[in-house]
Amino acid sequence: MSDQATLILDGVNHELPIITGVEGERAIDIRDLRERTGHITLDPGYGNTGSCLSDITFIDGENGILRYRGIPIEQFATSPNFVEVAWLLIFGQLPTAAQYTSFADDLTRFANLDEGMKHHFEGFPRAAPPMAILSAMINALSCFHPDLHELDDEDQFRMAAARLISKIRTIAAYAYRHSVGKPYNYPDPRLRYVPNFLHMMFSQPFDQYVCDETVRDALNLVLILHADHEQNCSTSTVRMVGSSRANLFASCAAGVCALWGPLHGGANVAVLDMLEQIHKGNITPDEYVSMAKSKDSKVRLMGFGHRVYKNFDPRAQMLRTVTERLLERLGKPDPLLDIARRLEEIALRDPYFVDRKLYPNVDFYSGIIMRAIGIPADMFTVLFAIGRLPGWIAHWWEQSQEQGGKIARPRQIYTGNLQTDYVPLADRG
Ligand code: SDX
Repeated sequence: MSDQATLILDGVNHELPIITGVEGERAIDIRDLRERTGHITLDPGYGNTGSCLSDITFIDGENGILRYRGIPIEQFATSPNFVEVAWLLIFGQLPTAAQYTSFADDLTRFANLDEGMKHHFEGFPRAAPPMAILSAMINALSCFHPDLHELDDEDQFRMAAARLISKIRTIAAYAYRHSVGKPYNYPDPRLRYVPNFLHMMFSQPFDQYVCDETVRDALNLVLILHADHEQNCSTSTVRMVGSSRANLFASCAAGVCALWGPLHGGANVAVLDMLEQIHKGNITPDEYVSMAKSKDSKVRLMGFGHRVYKNFDPRAQMLRTVTERLLERLGKPDPLLDIARRLEEIALRDPYFVDRKLYPNVDFYSGIIMRAIGIPADMFTVLFAIGRLPGWIAHWWEQSQEQGGKIARPRQIYTGNLQTDYVPLADRG
């Protein structure tokens, strides 16, 4: 295969280098296109545009492959450990026993919030969207760690990463407890990452929540499967904000806002709304699928389709297995799972979905798992953010280490008014 592309513009040949990734992905390098030809490219939604070179995650959308630092996600299912995967994504290799123990101990040590931050929660309405609180409080967190705005070396970066990954749980749990008018639960230093989060969410005074092993493993795997996904909307947002040299906290707070959208991380809440609508009998699965196919309805089959996966999202397949195992272990059959299975069965036989290569994505089953654990629907996307945080941090750091990194600044094609003159108010009629 050639390592150059020829662009012919106004009879002039321009040779453009082709870059090939380790898995054979090929890109035409256009970084000096405008300088050489006076032209830019146009790609709304960036579906055909690479923004960077990255070593973190590999996706093969045609074959349903997802690997973190080269490790297929399926291999994390045996004894899922989110903290270990967070280290892998951020630092590039699986932690040694000493590194893992030290990192896990840091996450335990950093779990508390400054007492001053607790009062911020009281300022939010009880019904405040948890994603609004999460984004605001991640930014507020940076006010208590001014020493971590500028990260001069990897040790300082590791402290900032550990603080964020640890405290995002506490912020999420406090947002939930505030929304239901219950007292905050301080983190319990005897508990590891997921059990400590569920303790902060669900323990009551004099009645500590005890985390069932199956629940612990299920939630570890849910967080792992959400941990990174290369240049998705929220991760690209974190890179965009980080490219201005904004600090790690501000960049991740921006990622939370991007993730909130119903076309992105907000889809897991929309999936549950869809399943509950069908469960209440307002509409049958077949009727819902028909509505989702109609352009007039503005309705989509939430949890289906993906910009990159044009085959099964491997995460959806793993989450379906986790859902079935968890519901069986808890003895909590959920009619919504049957409805989800029915929707999947109908859609995967329907040419509308098959022709457009629309398959279940990561959001299709995740909500049923979180509902079985007792997590309220308005917290589903917050859980997605807890899972995705290590990926955001890994990409922010990878970009910050690039030599000569530039601020991200896309171009445009102007389609507005040609030059015109100002008209004083008195003359405007
Ligand atoms: C995530 O990027 C990532 O990696 C994201 C993510 C991650 O880990 O970060 O994987 C997480 O965001 C998963 C996606 C969650 N969103 C949803 O489940 C919302 C429902 N899905 C869609 O809105 C849609 O599939 C997207 C947004 C996910 C992908 O959109 P695309 O690839 O831009 O596809 P498109 O909007 O151009 O649609 C192509 C065609 C259109 O029909 P035609 O105009 O060709 O007739 O497919 C149709 C669309 O109408 N279509 C759907 C559909 N998704 C696409 N029709 C009905 N139901 C759907 N879900």
